[in-house]
Amino acid sequence: MSPNIATLRDATGNRLREFAFHDEDFHELRALVKSLTGINLGEQKRELVYSRLARRLRALQLRSFAEYRELLGRDARELTELCNAITTNLTAFFREPHHFQYLRDQWLIPLAAARSGTRRLRIWSAACSSGEEAYSIAMTVAETLTDPAHWDVRILATDLDSEMLARARLGIYAPERLHGVSPPRLQRFFIEHREGGVVSQRIAPEVAALVAFKQLNLVRALPMKGPLDAVFCRNVVIYFDKDTQRDLFARIARLQRPGDLLFLGHSESLFRVSESYALIGKSIYRRV
Ligand SMILES: C[S@@+](CC[C@H](N)C(=O)[O-])C[C@H]1O[C@@H](n2cnc3c(N)ncnc32)[C@H](O)[C@@H]1O
Repeated sequence: MSPNIATLRDATGNRLREFAFHDEDFHELRALVKSLTGINLGEQKRELVYSRLARRLRALQLRSFAEYRELLGRDARELTELCNAITTNLTAFFREPHHFQYLRDQWLIPLAAARSGTRRLRIWSAACSSGEEAYSIAMTVAETLTDPAHWDVRILATDLDSEMLARARLGIYAPERLHGVSPPRLQRFFIEHREGGVVSQRIAPEVAALVAFKQLNLVRALPMKGPLDAVFCRNVVIYFDKDTQRDLFARIARLQRPGDLLFLGHSESLFRVSESYALIGKSIYRRV
């Protein structure tokens, strides 16, 4: 069996790689990524940085990470590519389904049943990736509020990654990305889309109309005024250190009123991060 190039080493014990990648490359790139995105790349992320950025070096026909760093210093467009390459975008329709059940049963159904009260709903999907989370919220709203014309619903969906936002706006999904969507929802909220012999599903205009996609960096100022009834900030702060998390949730808390909802990812928590929220369910919080 021929050895893998990634496991070969030179006479001094350094790995033989397609592109020269030294300690200073890793340290400088991780500092740059932290300042641009808040993403904290620990020592164990060295290989991830190499493999995700090697694609950029190949596309740009560079020979080393030193050349890539030099390019980053003089071409701001490459900073966008760097962010897009480093972010982890894994997502799915109705991921962590209990959040959508809670939204429907504990919030939307009681609101719809109330004779008086607000008809204005503002929901934020704070790291929406390719859009599945925001569209799952929109489907939940559309199937629960039976008289949508009488409601003022807006779902703001934001992400740092410009490539993911372009996909999200397109709203076309391959069949293998639709596992979380039940057959009735598929029938009601999607339209078959054929292109070059490939069959996929496009989000129906009724659902798409509820969502606005915008680029927004969570470690910069939040431009919205609020109040936000519900915030989905799921599976993104795991990439941030505690100080960055504290700062972010302090800013989010300012956009919410007591009782408003906050949903985090399954491995995230506000323990020692924020005292502005009370845990009320599995990674579900209410503003206190
Ligand atoms: C793993 S996905 C989570 C998607 C979705 N919320 C979910 O739970 O399925 C994490 C997303 O966070 C985004 N992200 C990372 N750092 C960010 C930042 N500083 N500002 C905004 N989005 C960021 C990434 O681009 C990526 O799309």
